[in-house]
Amino acid sequence: MGIVDEDIVRVRENADIVQVISQYTQLKRVGRRFSGLCPFHGEKSPSFSVNSEDGLYYCFGCQAKGDTITFVREKEQLDFVGAVEWLANKSNIQLRYTDANEGEDRKRRARLFDAIGTAVEWYHQRLLTSPDAGAARSYLRQRGFDGDAVRQYQMGWAPDGWDTLARSLKLSNKDLVDSGLGFVNSRSRQQDAFRGRVLFPIFDAQGRPVGFGGRILPGSTDPAKYKNSSESAVYTKSRVLYGLNWAKTTIVESDEVIVCEGYTDVIGFAQAGLPRAVATCGTALTEDHVKLLRRFARRVVLSFDADAAGQNAAARFYEWEKAHDLDVAVADLPDGVDPGELAQTDPERLAAAITNAKPFLAFRVERALAAGNLSTAEGRARTAEAALAMVAEHPDVAVRDAYVMDVADHCRLEHNIARQILAAGPKPVGSSMSPGAGRPVRRRLAERDTPEFEALKVLAARRDEIVPLIVPELFHDELYADTYGALVSHDSIPAAIAASDDEVGDLLQRLSVLDTDAEGMDVAGRLWQRYLERRVEDCVRDARMVSDPAQIRQLSEELAWFKSKIADLPEPDTRRPTVEGLLAWFNQSDGASDEG
Ligand code: UTP
Ligand code: MN
Repeated sequence: MGIVDEDIVRVRENADIVQVISQYTQLKRVGRRFSGLCPFHGEKSPSFSVNSEDGLYYCFGCQAKGDTITFVREKEQLDFVGAVEWLANKSNIQLRYTDANEGEDRKRRARLFDAIGTAVEWYHQRLLTSPDAGAARSYLRQRGFDGDAVRQYQMGWAPDGWDTLARSLKLSNKDLVDSGLGFVNSRSRQQDAFRGRVLFPIFDAQGRPVGFGGRILPGSTDPAKYKNSSESAVYTKSRVLYGLNWAKTTIVESDEVIVCEGYTDVIGFAQAGLPRAVATCGTALTEDHVKLLRRFARRVVLSFDADAAGQNAAARFYEWEKAHDLDVAVADLPDGVDPGELAQTDPERLAAAITNAKPFLAFRVERALAAGNLSTAEGRARTAEAALAMVAEHPDVAVRDAYVMDVADHCRLEHNIARQILAAGPKPVGSSMSPGAGRPVRRRLAERDTPEFEALKVLAARRDEIVPLIVPELFHDELYADTYGALVSHDSIPAAIAASDDEVGDLLQRLSVLDTDAEGMDVAGRLWQRYLERRVEDCVRDARMVSDPAQIRQLSEELAWFKSKIADLPEPDTRRPTVEGLLAWFNQSDGASDEG
């Protein structure tokens, strides 16, 4: 089930990793590699490296690694098949599928994307040029959206007719209905889903058009201010976030995403210089939304009326923080003002609202304290109870206690009394693990500048230069020895990675993007030297344990021979013959079998 193997191979061979990655970050050639700012985490100096011959990348900052397909999977949030399709599409490769149904299903989705895309363009042209769109154009202008914004967000105008789009697009009934663009009425006539509305096309995270949000113009009698496309095979409201396709790069770079309510808010944020906002489309934020966002950033700033979301949402937010290792904060917006409006009237205030965002619990507690009457003892007690009820919802005991003390101080209560109130109140949900405590820390391999590591670098970059000069036993460290083995027994680094376990694979990934100017002979010399030094240590240790004079004599002869070689190796003049001599000695004598 999936794509025919041969086609996957073709796609891999055709994909130019540098070209693909260059769409996300600027790469510069450095020697035999390419390097740039990591597209997976925010950074100021480049630690991201690409090996174009082998089609591999590695980030020394966040350890992101993989090949072209992995890259597309991560950046475009696709599964394996989706990533191969994405690449195939770029190189105009027709894919064949092992399961005919799967191919059908994907073809079907592709048709829906096409139909919706055509409609996006049709509605957009209508808005830009049609006389009946004059009112829509001036409405958008008045909301602060000039021609550039209209074009950038591909806004459209759905004319006030029953079937203007349907007549123009001439889709089959099935495609019209399945795409959510229209329906078939009781007299079997095609009808448009949207009429008399300004349209905001909605795209999925990969930028494929999936639906629309449509707003009435002022003065319309339609009671629904906003209307969205119905759900379809390509549009699931609980999974799509408006604006993510445009914002994702900035979201990754800043490790922060702003979540707001509406299309106009997303656009307003971008116009105010904060192009990292997304919106749910007429639904509440779901866990699926959060999981999607978590792939791009670790901090979520809620930028809507969080009081309204508050009571019901609080417990969910804390659970998500814990389960998905993210921080949820609340923007410090003035009461009753939309981010979209604020973007037009006071963009600096909007930016400050994001900068001064508070943890969700702090926001809730401050609201409760501000609402209370602190002038009487009774008022203070009630206020404390209301605030502590919110504190109680937090799953982390240390966080709870910190807030308890704040609330107590604010309401002039003994800390322990406040703790009692808290304990008497509703029990918190979840365990007492702190958000972030379970954050997986990626293991970092110490960058050891040993001859073994250096040799592996040369081996990965220019294997012919060093393979004839060394033997496997020179690699003492088990990880390095296995890595050497994987490298010499496969034709390419990707093949070696495919055949290796995670640890070796990780090292190979890193090696694949490291370049080295070191000369094979030089490195081989140092590797042999390290090896002989270990042999000397062995001799010395053995000599202490034997008492037979013949054995002692043999050991001391060996020792002297090793030492003379160690002395010859660093000398450029004698290095080559010494290495050659050592190879001959190792291969014909018991050099190998003597080893540990
Ligand atoms: P509101 O109904 O509060 O709209 O929905 P609003 O903010 O007053 O609308 P404007 O600013 O006058 O245009 C908030 C947002 O939720 C989305 C819209 O983007 C809207 O701006 N929404 C609402 C939908 O997408 N679908 C709906 O059915 C309702
Ligand atoms: Mn609004």
